[in-house]
Amino acid sequence: MNVIHCKNYDEMSVAAAKIFSDAIKAKPDVVLGLATGSTPEGMYAELVKEYKAGALDFSRVVSINLDEYCGLPGDHDQSYRYFMQKHLFNHVNIDPANTYLPVGDTADHAAEAARYEKFVASIGYADLQVLGVGGNGHIGFNEPDDAIVADTHVTDLKPETIKANSRFFASENDVPRQALTMGLGAIMNAKAIVLMASGAVKKEAMRALLCGDTVSTKCPVTLLKLHPNVTVICDDEAWPC
Ligand code: F6R
Repeated sequence: MNVIHCKNYDEMSVAAAKIFSDAIKAKPDVVLGLATGSTPEGMYAELVKEYKAGALDFSRVVSINLDEYCGLPGDHDQSYRYFMQKHLFNHVNIDPANTYLPVGDTADHAAEAARYEKFVASIGYADLQVLGVGGNGHIGFNEPDDAIVADTHVTDLKPETIKANSRFFASENDVPRQALTMGLGAIMNAKAIVLMASGAVKKEAMRALLCGDTVSTKCPVTLLKLHPNVTVICDDEAWPC
């Protein structure tokens, strides 16, 4: 595992953006695995900046996102489709037809999960996957549990995740209780993974990942210890050592 200890959020965002920008330059049709949430916002802003400076071309890039809230249509301002449009897709020359997320507002979430799993496998998974981490150690929306699901699935969000994400909604009651998420299978099939962590609330999850060699589904981020190509980019507030 590569570990990069950054001073702050901005330094973390620049370091992560450099890895993504290098990947796009090295392979113009790269498949990027993308995440939402506060953590990668700065990285997306850096990539947009580089694109606007004429240094990046997204025209052949393919993107697959980790997750989406059940029940939210893509034009809902808290859907992850909306987030991706707002922070990245609307500002670069990525082909909209090459941007994929699970669809949140279908009649049959389980069928949508199965469709997405098949699709992601059919394109050979991500070349490079960015992950944030929940304060409880979740990656994607793979929440801590006795066992972990391999395939894309519908998951019940833990109370702490609902509470954490309520900052984006009018109230906690408005946060969807379920989400569609890639499972650990697709995540672990990414050829390379960049995990970003910022803020004191991530310190315990970072401790579980970086200090000691235990792997546990009760803290899903620790499963990344089993992946051969992971870069952890952690800011000083999240730094556990
Ligand atoms: C989002 C995702 C989640 C977030 C995690 C951290 O697509 O998969 O695992 O990465 O909940 O969220 P933030 O970055 O808002 O702290």
